[in-house]
Amino acid sequence: MKLMQLYASLKSDLQAIEDDMSRTVTSDMPTLSEASQHLMKAGGKRLRPVFVLLSGKFGRYSLDTVKKVAVPLELIHMATLVHDDVIDDAETRRGQLTVKSKWDNRIAMYTGDFIYAKALTVVSELGNPRIHQVLSNAIVQMCIGEMEQVRDFFETDQSIRNYLLRIRRKTALLIAISCQLGALATDAPKRHSDALYRFGYNVGMAFQITDDLLDICGTEKAIGKPPGSDLRQGNITLPVLYALQDPALKDRLLAEIRLIRQSEGAADSSAAVRIVRESRGIKDSEKMADRYIAKAVKALGELPDLTAKKNLAEIARFVAKRSY
Ligand code: IPE
Ligand code: IPE
Ligand code: MG
Ligand code: MG
Ligand code: MG
Repeated sequence: MKLMQLYASLKSDLQAIEDDMSRTVTSDMPTLSEASQHLMKAGGKRLRPVFVLLSGKFGRYSLDTVKKVAVPLELIHMATLVHDDVIDDAETRRGQLTVKSKWDNRIAMYTGDFIYAKALTVVSELGNPRIHQVLSNAIVQMCIGEMEQVRDFFETDQSIRNYLLRIRRKTALLIAISCQLGALATDAPKRHSDALYRFGYNVGMAFQITDDLLDICGTEKAIGKPPGSDLRQGNITLPVLYALQDPALKDRLLAEIRLIRQSEGAADSSAAVRIVRESRGIKDSEKMADRYIAKAVKALGELPDLTAKKNLAEIARFVAKRSY
């Protein structure tokens, strides 16, 4: 099943979430509204709200309740993207100009802060401090993950474990809690919300590994930004770390990465990207992503046989094979 077909069955609930998000980021300050709407209208997979909706089916599902978790989660995701594009100096996202390049870095900082604050306003309507805590903790962990990435720019000596810890914080946790909170908010049994957290965590790890693979192997049209951006920025990802383990490629790849570093962002990363593409780094990273997907699917074993469980397994399979 294609992801779009799956979304069709969630269409009206997702539309309600879309309308609420749009309303939430409306402000009397035109630049804040325009910059937020610009990113929202550019598209995006809306994966986190989909996870909330599906996880909510394991409890006493009510659109009004799941909306108050799904809207803040997607908004938090959006806020981190606005800030991420400042940190990564990215010109395009979702095939459109980033906020930082259509406006500037200062506007991107406050647009991100504004979207974060609005997200927390929505979640406070639930009056559930535990949910608030889980969300705030995820934001803290994402900040740490992004800072670790800045710390490790151009660090070609880092371990695979170091990489995995970083992506756990910067990406997997938010996906894990999207699944957990859908269940928590609808009072699903703890055993189920725990299983959903484990599912989301493992899907999230595979998701970032695939994102990093797409940055090496994807096309600009498919990923909405030029490939090779991570290396240009000094972000050493899993395929690169695996490629560096190949003695026949190591010196050539290190020399290319050194050139990129010396040029301070002006160099083109395509020679380094070509080396990684031809290396075993691609296959090895795909295998690692597949292992996480297998663990995610296993976590679903704890859950009752609802259609939502089948849908979650389908999304997990999509994540492993995605090209955008
Ligand atoms: C991009 O996330 C950032 C990562 C965590 C890899 P998505 O790939 O979910 O971005 P959109 O929302 O679909 O644009
Ligand atoms: C994920 O990392 C971003 C966040 C967790 C905020 P990336 O920097 O790889 O995301 P993209 O590739 O820009 O979407
Ligand atoms: Mg980044
Ligand atoms: Mg980025
Ligand atoms: Mg990326």
